[in-house]
Amino acid sequence: MAGALTTTFLGHQVSNPFLNAAGVLCRTPEDLLQLASSVSGSMITKSCTVEPREGNPEPRYAAAPYGSINSMGLPNLGFEFYKQFAVEHRGKLLFISVSGMSMDENVKMAKDLLPVAKETGCIMELNLSCPNVPGKPQVGYDFTTMREYLQRVSSVYDAPFGVKLPPYFDIAHFDQAAAIFNEIPQVAFLTCVNSLGNGLVIDVDTETVAIKPKDGFGGLGGRYILPTALANVNAFYRRCPTKLVVGCGGVYSANEAFQHILAGASLVQVGTALHEEGPQIFQRVVDEFALLMRAKGYNTIDDFKGKLKTL
Ligand code: SIN
Repeated sequence: MAGALTTTFLGHQVSNPFLNAAGVLCRTPEDLLQLASSVSGSMITKSCTVEPREGNPEPRYAAAPYGSINSMGLPNLGFEFYKQFAVEHRGKLLFISVSGMSMDENVKMAKDLLPVAKETGCIMELNLSCPNVPGKPQVGYDFTTMREYLQRVSSVYDAPFGVKLPPYFDIAHFDQAAAIFNEIPQVAFLTCVNSLGNGLVIDVDTETVAIKPKDGFGGLGGRYILPTALANVNAFYRRCPTKLVVGCGGVYSANEAFQHILAGASLVQVGTALHEEGPQIFQRVVDEFALLMRAKGYNTIDDFKGKLKTL
């Protein structure tokens, strides 16, 4: 029955629709090895910058009552490391997440990654939504700048790529953002959503914030964000019919993953729950998902993808 979970993404066959969310278990060679040998159908690397970064001071990730809060600050081993990983990687589909500190950095990394993407089949996910670098607002919330980033990157990158988006909360913003993505053919998929930026988790006993950077402000993940993630997946699935959507946010089990796919997701990323449970979560979710599909009488993912009913 696990064969029923096989699906394709931009022409690549994957054994199941599940992968890590960029940032979780994907920064170091050891992390990437664990992901590569897990049951995930594909995998993505930590969002990288041209130069390696230490990121924000610790503690910068904390479990919270309904999920997690983080302000990692893009700690990563630098673009060259992840590019070389792509060159040497064999096996499951690989996404390379890039999150330059400027437009020029993103253009440079895209240009350098292009021949590797063409040679190896790896796919770039351009992260325009990190909420955690002090002094750097999320590009995804500034539509003029976002259009410019996508125009510049696509002018040097003539292969399909994806964009990691922040959550949007207003119908007008869904419309405006979707219009920008629909202008740019190389934007082949939209990953919805990054963490819900700049939340604050407080411990009543100690009367203290949960993480150190930015006076405790950080991106929320996990159960806090499932309905927001589903709304963003479905909003862009409806508005961008020529693009694919990758769901991210609040997935702990087959139940939430099924909701993402029903809302229109082609692949589903697992973040907070992967951090909590480790890479064996993929086996559990795959097994649960196969059972759920069988119970519902579905033979393939396409039988229900995007088929959310309204009232
Ligand atoms: C981080 O490194 O701060 C998280 C990256 C992101 O949310 O895009």
